Amino acid sequence: MAKFSDIKGFVFDLDGVITDTSVFHSQAWHQVADKVGAPWSKELEDGLKGISRMDSLEMILKAGNLSDKYTEDQKVALATEKNTNYLKLVDQMTPANILPGIKAFLDEIKDHGYLLSLASASKNAPKVLQKLQLTDYFPKIVDPKILSKGKPDPEIYLKGAALIDLKPEQCIGVEDAAAGVESINAAGETSIGIGDKQTLKDADIHFENTADMTLANIKKQMTE
Ligand code: BG6
Ligand code: MG
Repeated sequence: MAKFSDIKGFVFDLDGVITDTSVFHSQAWHQVADKVGAPWSKELEDGLKGISRMDSLEMILKAGNLSDKYTEDQKVALATEKNTNYLKLVDQMTPANILPGIKAFLDEIKDHGYLLSLASASKNAPKVLQKLQLTDYFPKIVDPKILSKGKPDPEIYLKGAALIDLKPEQCIGVEDAAAGVESINAAGETSIGIGDKQTLKDADIHFENTADMTLANIKKQMTE
C-alpha cells in the first residue's frame, strides 16, 4: 500500500458511496428480474453493484437461465425500462440523499488540496450529482461511454487518475462494491471499501459507514 504522504487525489465511485442510489438501482433491477422471472437474491443484488447497465441485465438473465431467451432489441428495451424507472426515483432526490459525512469529507479533502475525480459506471452520474448539488466538486468525471471494459477491469480507475494528472499510486479510490475494489486494486491505487467487511475483504482500508471516512481515520490505516 502507498504511504499516506504520497496520496495527492481521490477517485470516487458515486452510487452507494456519495449517495444512496444503490438502493434505487437494486429496486429497479428487482422489477426487471420479477418481470422476466429470474430469481432475486442478496448475492445477485451485491454482485450487480458497480456493474454497467447492460452487463447487469446479462447477470440477471443468467441467474434465471434466460440469457438466450431475449433478442438484443428486447434486452435494450428491458434495460431502457429499468433506466426509466430508476430515473423516476432519481427525480425525487435532493441533497438530503447525500450519505452521512460525505459532504464534510469532500470539503475536508478539497481544503487540504487533494484533487478529485469521479469513476462511476453510471451514465446518469452528472444528473445525480446535479440533484445532490455536488456538481462543482467534480469537474473531472470519467465518461463510462468511452470505456472498453467495466468494473472490475482497472480501466475506469486508471482514467480517473489520468483525468487529474496523477499516477495511480498517488490516488485513493473509494468504493462500496467488490467489483469496484477489484478495479481500484488492479489499477494500482489504494482502495477504500465502505460497507460490509466480508464483501469488501480485498480493500486496503475499510470503513463500515461513510461517516467514518475522514483524513485522520484514513491516516490511521496507512503508514505515514
Ligand atoms: C453503477 C451502479 O454505479 O452504475 C450500478 O452501481 C449501475 O448498479 C451502473 O447498474 C450503471 O448505471 P446507469 O445509471 O448507467 O444505468
Ligand atoms: Mg457503487
